[in-house]
Parts: sequence; structure tokens; C-alpha cells
Amino acid sequence: MKNLTVNGQRLWESIMELAKIGATDKGGVCRLALTDLDREARDIFISWCKEAGCSVSVDKMGNIFARRSGKDNDLPPVMIGSHLDTQPTGGKFDGIYGVLSGLEVIRTLNDLNYETNTPVEVAVWTNEEGSRFAPAMVASGVFAGVFDLDYGLSRADLDGMTMGEELERIGYNGPEDVGGRPLTAFFEAHIEQGPILENEGKTIGVVTGAQGQRWYEVTFTGQEAHAGPTPMPTRRDALLGAARAVEAVNRIGMSHQPTACATVGLIQAQPNSRNVIPGQVFFTIDFRHPDADVLAQMDAELRTDLEKIAGDIGLEMAFEEIWHSPPVPFNKDCVDSVRKAAEDWGYSHRDIVSGAGHDACYISRVAPTSMVFVPCENGISHNEIENATQEDLTAGCQVLFQAAVARANSVPTGK
Ligand code: GLV
Ligand code: MN
Ligand code: MN
Repeated sequence: MKNLTVNGQRLWESIMELAKIGATDKGGVCRLALTDLDREARDIFISWCKEAGCSVSVDKMGNIFARRSGKDNDLPPVMIGSHLDTQPTGGKFDGIYGVLSGLEVIRTLNDLNYETNTPVEVAVWTNEEGSRFAPAMVASGVFAGVFDLDYGLSRADLDGMTMGEELERIGYNGPEDVGGRPLTAFFEAHIEQGPILENEGKTIGVVTGAQGQRWYEVTFTGQEAHAGPTPMPTRRDALLGAARAVEAVNRIGMSHQPTACATVGLIQAQPNSRNVIPGQVFFTIDFRHPDADVLAQMDAELRTDLEKIAGDIGLEMAFEEIWHSPPVPFNKDCVDSVRKAAEDWGYSHRDIVSGAGHDACYISRVAPTSMVFVPCENGISHNEIENATQEDLTAGCQVLFQAAVARANSVPTGK
């Protein structure tokens, strides 16, 4: 398959074109899920897929599928995909690379007039980031049967708008049922979003699985009071509780090194006035670890620490674990086909466990799945300065192409 070469320049230009939608002054992208900008990116993607001869369908979670026929269209497709939504201060590559490298696979097959045994589909999964609507990967989760449709559609942003309402508003509440159909395999290409490949000078990460995640929402309620006359010992300062909680979360993460991650990323203090003692604070916690037992230990430590903090300051606490995505092992055959493709092309590579969550994590529950990682500059992602080289992105797409096409052709046609 070595003469079947993807067009790295075309892939790069497509990524740069989509990066214009929601472009930020610092060179990044702000394109939150189900905003008008998300609609614009979806519309362009669909127009490119139609130009490439694909038929396009949209399901009730707004997931988009662009399908290129195979020799036997009764066979389940090989699917390639990722997401088009970004973080508020996101980059050009997270998610977008995985979608457009799927399109590049299809464009290359077209250039070569090459017919695969199974159809090939490119998927855009709605709201992978979990930034506007929590949890992350919610629409691929509905596809995989992890969440039911009502749960997915009722996820609300901080202003109370639900995914269902916003899908309808932007015209992406499609007619197709979500999931419930077989896939021959699923592949997702992505920037690593961490420093390992770059530090080791490796071009390809052969992704063997992803670490587990647990997400929490906490509200501390104390008492609003005047910042001048209220004596320090009598205060019930909810923000002081949150500050101690941030310390505790960091301490828990640091006590399970080298792999644990623990983050408070969102915090809202009420009434947020400089001379009022904060009466209520809402904040989120993101815990990650590749070992479910360690995650369980972190969970137990968190509950104990937060109870103590609330008790010491006299706060009421509402504590909810809103998401638990256990560690994911990917399919051995799919992982092997990614490694083989990297070897065939002479790219340096290493096996790697994903630190980030990806739609592939949920799709792996219903289809043989793996991922291809490429390095990103200084390991930085979820940042407007996120960057990757055209050369590495091309190599990752080449590996994706070979792994996906080999898989599509490994299924005998009934025709
Ligand atoms: C998704 O980007 C995640 O939080 O891993
Ligand atoms: Mn991503
Ligand atoms: Mn992301």
C-alpha cells in the first residue's frame, strides 16, 4: 500500500481554512459546541464531503457521517472521526485534525480511484470538549449506548440552554437514530496534547488506550456579609472553602504521581463583588489516572477532604460526581495495524496511553478501535498557541490511511 500517498498540503490547507471559523487574535480558535460558529464549520465540512462524492447523514445528537461507498455496501463501514468543537481558548488542531484527516483519506481514495471492500465513513461527533456542555464526549457516548438520548439532549450550558435546544436552533437535530449500527472498526487521529512524543523525537504515537476520568461539581454555600464590619472569626466564606479545595485537589494529584492529574478548571463566586464576603461558590474538579483503583482512592480522599473543609468553615456542601469514564483499552488488532503502518512507512513510533479523553474511548465499546497520535509543539494543547508540523500531521494521516484501508479490505465482500 506504500504508493498510496495522502496529500499533506491539501490536509494542511483544509485545517487552516477551518481555523478561520472562530479564529482568535492569538492564533487559536474559539468555536464552542452548537454555537453559530460550530454550525458554520459543520456546513463547510459537509460541503467538502459532498464535493468528495460522499453521502451525508446527521443523527439526533447532531453527529455527522459522510459516507464513501465500498465494494459491498451491506458491510459495516470503517469509520474515522473526531470533533469540530473547541475549548474557549482552543487551538487549530485538537479534534479538527482527526476529522479532516478522515476527509483526506477519502479524497486520497478518490484520487486513486480506489474501491475499499467496506464503505468508509468520516464522523464529526458533537460536543467532544465538554466545555460548553458537560460531560465531554457526550454524543459519541450516546452513539455507543453509554448515555441515553434524553440524557444527551438535556445537557445544559451555564446559561441553561440545552443541547437539544441548541441543535434545533442551528439546524443540526438530524433525523437518524443515534448508534445501534455496527462498525467494522473506528480510528481517530489526534495531536498528542502532551510532551512525550516530542521529548523522545518520535513521529507516531500508537495509542493503546486512554486513562480514566472522573468529573465532579461542587457548590459551597456560606453567608454573604459586609467585607468591613464582619469579624474574621465569624465569617462563613465560601470562596475560602473553594481555595482550600483547590489546594486539596492539587495535593491529591501530587500524591499519586507520576501519572495522576487533578484540576479545578471552572470557578464561579457569588456575588463576585469586591466588598462582599462570597456567599456561594460553584467549582468543578477533573481527576484522571490510567488505573481505576487509584482513581477510586483519589475519589475517596476528595470526599474526605471536602467534608472537612466545609465543616471547618461552616459551609453547606452540594457534591456531585457528574461523570465517570473508566480507563479504556483499545482493540489489539487495531493497535497492531497502526503500529504496522508506522513501521511500513519507516516512521519512528512508540506505544502511548492517551492522557486526554477522545470520542474513540466511547466508540471502543461498540467497535474495534484505536488512535494515531502525532506530536504537538512543547506538548501544549487547550491553548491558542497549540501547534503541530505539516510533516507530522501528514505522517499521522498516512498511518491512519493505511490502518483504515487495511481494515476495510480485511473483510471479505459478499458480492
Ligand atoms: C477533552 O479534551 C478532554 O478533556 O480530555
Ligand atoms: Mn480532542
Ligand atoms: Mn480537547
